Amino acid sequence: MNKYIIPILLFAFAILFSYCNPSKKATSSKEKIVKKSTYQADMTALIMNNCTPCHIPPNGRKKPFDNYTNVKTDIDEIIRRIELNPTDKGFMPFKNKTKLSDSTISAFKKWRDDGLLEK
Ligand code: HEC
Repeated sequence: MNKYIIPILLFAFAILFSYCNPSKKATSSKEKIVKKSTYQADMTALIMNNCTPCHIPPNGRKKPFDNYTNVKTDIDEIIRRIELNPTDKGFMPFKNKTKLSDSTISAFKKWRDDGLLEK
């Protein structure tokens, strides 16, 4: 029996050390650092580019989305509408023939999921 003790212990230590390997932990925590989206940094340009002129005063006469409060309040409705198909009633951007790009739609969702931060 004794002759198995050493190999078994070595095996147990090998497993233990492979789980405690500090270099593994360091890389995986680095990968998780993703910047949170904010209205000012991530939303203003997208809205200015895609929802103009209709939602941008003074030329746009639809609900203004040039301010944080309105965009924050309406975010669920905004996401619902930009995810519709262009032929659906209520689709935004109004009368566009194509949907916004997947990455643009994801940017709206990420901002919502990150907690609707202003800056
Ligand atoms: C060409 C003009 C035009 C563009 C561009 C446009 N919209 Fe609209 N939007 C409208 C019109 C017209 C309405 C009112 C009719 C309706 O509710 O469908 C409206 C209504 C809305 C509403 C409902 C507002 C309310 O009063 O409750 C939302 C939300 C909305 N748009 C989001 C957007 C978003 C987000 C974009 C940009 C990605 C966008 N729209 C681009 C014309 C536009």
